[in-house]
Amino acid sequence: MKIDVNGTMMNVRTLFSAEQIQKRTQELAQQINQEYGLDQTLVILVALNGAFVFAADLVRELKMTTQIEFIRIKSYEGTQSSGSIQLLTPIPKNLVGKHVLIIEDIVDTGRSFHFLLNLLSQTDAASLKMCTLLNKPEAREFPDLKPDYVGFDIGKNFVIGYGLDLDGVYRNLPYIADLTNA
Ligand code: IMP
Ligand code: MG
Repeated sequence: MKIDVNGTMMNVRTLFSAEQIQKRTQELAQQINQEYGLDQTLVILVALNGAFVFAADLVRELKMTTQIEFIRIKSYEGTQSSGSIQLLTPIPKNLVGKHVLIIEDIVDTGRSFHFLLNLLSQTDAASLKMCTLLNKPEAREFPDLKPDYVGFDIGKNFVIGYGLDLDGVYRNLPYIADLTNA
């Protein structure tokens, strides 16, 4: 498939198939089940919009009791991080004493992650961890910031599908594709 991105024709190339994503999601869920154990309630904090597809698949593989909350942040314009993070919904209440696991679609520069950690460190949660489907280590602006659970490390290319968008479009693709010059 070829698409027009701001006047440049780009090739869409499959990076991870639906099957690869499903297998990796099951492995991550197993790791989370083992590390948290099944005896305590886990608060899942889904970072909208991008993480909604990944979170829907991941949480159905979790075996412990979960409380699922949503938070909406916005940082991207087109294929560039805008630099400023906006919080579009309030932080969920009653996180005091709870184990919180943030679910992200992708950690890129790390600005959103950094922003969320700062925000949530004020809530007196018992623990705070991050699970992201995709990670772009080479794009990181905060070298010390490492997600606790990562589906796949990728390069700096812009990717779409499985929840990830280009200006709101392509979130419904069942696979992850990257954009390369045509
Ligand atoms: P960061 O704050 O730069 O780490 O960016 C994190 C957010 O930017 C992610 O949650 C995504 O919503 C978005 N993002 C970063 N890279 C991509 C990409 O390659 N495709 C689509 N969205 C992306
Ligand atoms: Mg996102």
